[in-house]
Amino acid sequence: MSLLEKIRDRFRPDRVTLQLDDIQALILRSRPEPYVGIHAMLHVDEAEGGRALLGRLAQHIPSAGTWTEDLEAWTGVAISHAGLKALGVPEASLKTFPLAFQQGMAKRAEQLRDFGENAPQDWEDAYRDDHCHIALTIYAVDKDRLDIAVEKAMGEYRASSGVTLVGTHEFGADAEAKNPFGFRDSISQPTVAGAGVEPQPGQERAIAPGEFILGENSETGAPLSIPQPEALGRNGSFVVLRKYDSRVGAFNDFLRAHAEGEEAQHKLAAKMFGRWRSGAPLPLSPDHDDEALGADPQRSNDFSFKDDAAGLVCPHASHMRRMNPRDSQLTILTDVNIHRIIRRSSTFGPKWTPDVTARDDGDDQRGIFFIFISARAYDTIEFLQQEWVNRGNFIDLAEERDPIVGLHDKPGSFTIPKDPARQRVNGVTTFNRLRGGEYLFMPSLTGLQWIAAGRW
Ligand code: HEM
Repeated sequence: MSLLEKIRDRFRPDRVTLQLDDIQALILRSRPEPYVGIHAMLHVDEAEGGRALLGRLAQHIPSAGTWTEDLEAWTGVAISHAGLKALGVPEASLKTFPLAFQQGMAKRAEQLRDFGENAPQDWEDAYRDDHCHIALTIYAVDKDRLDIAVEKAMGEYRASSGVTLVGTHEFGADAEAKNPFGFRDSISQPTVAGAGVEPQPGQERAIAPGEFILGENSETGAPLSIPQPEALGRNGSFVVLRKYDSRVGAFNDFLRAHAEGEEAQHKLAAKMFGRWRSGAPLPLSPDHDDEALGADPQRSNDFSFKDDAAGLVCPHASHMRRMNPRDSQLTILTDVNIHRIIRRSSTFGPKWTPDVTARDDGDDQRGIFFIFISARAYDTIEFLQQEWVNRGNFIDLAEERDPIVGLHDKPGSFTIPKDPARQRVNGVTTFNRLRGGEYLFMPSLTGLQWIAAGRW
């Protein structure tokens, strides 16, 4: 069954309470499997030309109302604070956005712990000095359909004035949807209440829509504050974009240095991620990979940590358990449901093989555009970066950091609980180096038209 057929199977039109026809498809629609795509970053030099281009691009953006339709390609658009300003959006409106968004990702380096090799001064040009005003993403089911969609968007760009293309990056993965480390990715996603799609086993209850769509009720029972005017803010959301260079060679070398033989290396990698390469989660398959389980969305997310309080099966320090501790007992209490995020990350570079070594790393060959969507995106990413990624106190591991996405200014450790004594694996380095990023606003279709019209 294709991904689309699976979604159609779970779609209940009578349960829809959201204004799907006004919400950009990319927010609610998963990427296809396999997928190809392109990210393009645009800089607005002159407001009127920028607004005209935005208006024309908006015609190519499907709404979430089409999400059981067989789309061949779809485009999404998000805009930075500097971008809204360059497009001429009035100050009265700009100041109704969250402060972190107004400042932009680079200026939030302190809150994001983006220091040392992740610091903004070394980012790629497209993300520096407020260059990235408009981020355009096109997803397609294959290269031919991508080329057609890109040509349409480029046609609009070439016909425009006052806008400069500051960067493009192609991405894609085959039907197994694996990331540069060879792990199936984007498995666990929250279900958005009112979107009409039934939760899959293990997705727990649906999360209040206001956690993802501005103007809807959030987990607190009330909507979060929405950017003004309502025509601009309602049905939009916020996006965090972080581009990582994946040091797959350094990761492979680390596995070789600490585990004897391929099987033991696979297991150490699974302990670090929380899942095996197929996507099979450790709590359901503790000792070996299980391809059928990993490929079955009905089962692959249907687990909790209640029978693994000590982390003997899935270490507390693994990336997956850190990023969603589910029902784990945490030393520092927090509401896990307000930190849920819709992940729309994309992978680039060659498929993972075990023979890649640190000598092959660098030059931006393999990596991930880590992208997520949430109505409280900035509070969430800053919380995650400070507490769950770059510290270990919440799981009684002091300064230990996330083994996959933590910033390791000096080699760190990874703790694997074992009976009778836990194992501490040293020599963890920054396996994903940040190359740039931005805080973006993804307007509704009405919001895009409001900006394009410029009738403030
Ligand atoms: C850039 C390198 C990254 C890699 C290679 C990576 C890889 C993975 C993998 C393989 C999974 C398990 C499969 C799944 O449930 O989708 C996962 C889950 C997840 N990751 Fe990442 N990730 C990366 C970055 C991040 C960052 C920067 C964050 C947040 C700050 C993050 C948040 C999450 C979350 C929330 C989950 C789902 C946990 C769950 O619900 O069980 N990831 N990641």
